[in-house]
Amino acid sequence: MKYQLAPLFCRPWTLNGMSPRLIESHYENNYGGALARLNLITETLESLDPATTPADVLSRLKRDESAALNSTLLHELYFASLGGDGRAVPEAMAAAIARDFGSVDRWRQEFTTLANARANGCGWVLLTYVPRDGRLINQTTSDDSHSIAGGIPIMAIDMFEHAYAIDFGANAAAHIASFMRNIEWNAVQGRYEDALIMPPPRKLVQKQFDGTPSISVEEVAAMLKAGTPVQIIDARPKHYTTKSQDIMEGAVWRDPERLDEWIGELSKTEPVVTYCVYGFHIGCETAITLRKAGFDARYMAGGHYAWKAIKGPVKLLQ
Ligand SMILES: [Fe+2]
Repeated sequence: MKYQLAPLFCRPWTLNGMSPRLIESHYENNYGGALARLNLITETLESLDPATTPADVLSRLKRDESAALNSTLLHELYFASLGGDGRAVPEAMAAAIARDFGSVDRWRQEFTTLANARANGCGWVLLTYVPRDGRLINQTTSDDSHSIAGGIPIMAIDMFEHAYAIDFGANAAAHIASFMRNIEWNAVQGRYEDALIMPPPRKLVQKQFDGTPSISVEEVAAMLKAGTPVQIIDARPKHYTTKSQDIMEGAVWRDPERLDEWIGELSKTEPVVTYCVYGFHIGCETAITLRKAGFDARYMAGGHYAWKAIKGPVKLLQ
């Protein structure tokens, strides 16, 4: 799988006026769905020979790929935008917003007006930094495919007719061939080097569990598929499992509060994977306790909902 699921960044139970149920469904179904589409389209593209695939098929797939990639990136950005109180804008951020929008209030007014204008429709409203101008703008998009979120273009061909009609008439192929013969690769490479300086989006950091080994849901799925022996412990709190209806296939639920009672069932020769609801506390703490007791234990990043978001098999929780 080329694209891997990101664990949920915000802690759903801390959000004000948004239910965990809403976040869980959005993460599992919409974000997980976009990622699944993206991986499927990518696999299809990789299986095709660009020399023999009809251009319209390739074009459609690439359009679908941008939409799925943007939906994936934007959902990650959305979940990573939640979790604060919304009121206190840190000083440096407030200064940058005031510089580019006049004031924080003016920015907030524009941003919310744009969001309201998308009501009953679809799309996104984004606060975007444009490195070229060193400034922030609000961007509104009507679908997922307008630009690759966070992408920094390093080469472009203009395919509007105005870019070639004077020389080539309607012969776009001649324009493309001419463009390909004229690429200034040193400049492209220079921009590529500049783009490399931009770090990737910050990963979820949980300082209190720093150094505790984790495993991704995709890695666990691969282990199960390969038949690698692994002991999977669902350590969701008891109060949670009483209202949950499903459990990861291949896992057993064990009460994290009563670890002393079940630790003796585990084998030290097989790896252990623990997980909780979203991957924030309980699964990590359980893995730490098991490691201290000499087990090869890791926590599954993203927990139960990350497993469901990659459509990992689940069964009824008895
Ligand atoms: Fe969404």
